[in-house]
Amino acid sequence: METKRISDKMEKLLNTQMTREAYQAQVYLSYASWAEVNSFAGISTFLYGHMNEEREHMFKILKYINDRGGNAKIEAIDAAPANPKDIGDCLKKILQHEMDNSKEIDKIVNLAHEEKDWATFNFAQWFVQEQIEEETLINSIIDKYNLASNAIKGNTNLYEMDRDLANASQEAEIPREEGF
Ligand code: FEO
Repeated sequence: METKRISDKMEKLLNTQMTREAYQAQVYLSYASWAEVNSFAGISTFLYGHMNEEREHMFKILKYINDRGGNAKIEAIDAAPANPKDIGDCLKKILQHEMDNSKEIDKIVNLAHEEKDWATFNFAQWFVQEQIEEETLINSIIDKYNLASNAIKGNTNLYEMDRDLANASQEAEIPREEGF
């Protein structure tokens, strides 16, 4: 195997984050299934789509570890959390998961900086940007939810919001840079 070009400490941290991204996918998967069972087809489509994004994040880290001469370790993924109470609770919890995940990404950035591991520092920037985009996206959905659920008693606007999300691409509102 090629020479290892990440520290043992970085390899461990990246492996932890890889499993964490798999956990993120578990969260989206479980919430998507919950939304589907509760007849929110649009929201569940959106969440299933996002589950795939999280799996891509997991795979991106796996490839990076191996490409740098490390060893990606496939480990147990924690069970998904309990179902949310309602859509508002679901969105609030998703945002919290994303904000928590951003803090975990920051740990990689901090260690890379500390070790002067500029390759990993550069790699981690993609995730920093991704987290900004994800937090913004979820916040914008929460804004829509608040409008839909507060404007008219009886939540009739929730139907429109659900339909809106069914058609929303994961990346529609936030163009990415070329190459990302
Ligand atoms: Fe891969 Fe939504 O964090």
